[in-house]
Amino acid sequence: MNDNVMISVNELKKFFGDVKAVNGISFDVKKGEVFGLLGPNGAGKTTTLKMLLGLLEPKEGNITIMGLNPETDEVQIKSRVGYVSEEPLIFKSLTPKDLFNFIASIRRLDAEETTERAKEYLESLGALDYYEQLVATLSHGNKQKIQIISAILHDPDLLILDEPLAGLDAKSVRVVKEILDIHIEKGGSVLFSTHIMEIAEDLCNRIAIMSKGKLVGIGTMDELRQQADKLGASLEDVFLRLTEQDTSVNEIVKKLRKSFKNTKK
Ligand SMILES: Nc1ncnc2c1ncn2[C@@H]1O[C@H](COP(=O)(O)OP(=O)(O)OP(=O)(O)O)[C@@H](O)[C@H]1O
Ligand SMILES: [Mg+2]
Repeated sequence: MNDNVMISVNELKKFFGDVKAVNGISFDVKKGEVFGLLGPNGAGKTTTLKMLLGLLEPKEGNITIMGLNPETDEVQIKSRVGYVSEEPLIFKSLTPKDLFNFIASIRRLDAEETTERAKEYLESLGALDYYEQLVATLSHGNKQKIQIISAILHDPDLLILDEPLAGLDAKSVRVVKEILDIHIEKGGSVLFSTHIMEIAEDLCNRIAIMSKGKLVGIGTMDELRQQADKLGASLEDVFLRLTEQDTSVNEIVKKLRKSFKNTKK
């Protein structure tokens, strides 16, 4: 195995009935990289990430995570990976304090050190006040902060994050970016999904653009920018074109108005 490759995906497929959610994608994530899966709603990003974690079984294709196979080495992979899922936290009847203690015990982390780290993260994200409040009663953004902290407490080699910045306020976005920077400086790697071009541009070394289950563009931001320049377009335009989102918003809005302007309250 090449030690430099953290994730290797080869011709991966997952269908749900007639829906080809992931339809033959291949990419590598290298050590030290922040790799972004960028695509519109329904592109297949979450389905891809869930297969990487062994939460969904692929129809076809190969996945290797740090030389391990998600289908057979799930436990080993989970000990070295931190995952932020798209769904909200499931441990709603716990407080962040209970949850972090639970994580420390199942991951066999030093309890005191984990508490200290967790509190430091909470403070930096402006959420220390909620340490002993039930997760169920927290706002969406604060639940997301608890999920992010839960994913990094064991200092994983690889972070797999599904829309990690969704619902966070500007200050927290800045802090999470810093947390990711520190993770990379310490030799970690990141794969994350987003549907927002600017986020991918801001955070990633490399991105893969996903549309309808396929990868329609892959490269460093500079490479993609150069390709866009050659077409005389902005990166945003190219993204919208590649993912077939370039139907004019004005046209859509006009059609909506026409359909609904005569429906009275
Ligand atoms: N459990 C499921 N059963 C049936 N269809 C599914 C299931 N999960 C996902 N799909 C379908 O697979 C496709 C890809 O979904 P996925 O959630 O991977 O997209 P995504 O890129 O993460 O989108 P978003 O940006 O909205 O999170 C969609 O058409 C979705 O409806
Ligand atoms: Mg998703």
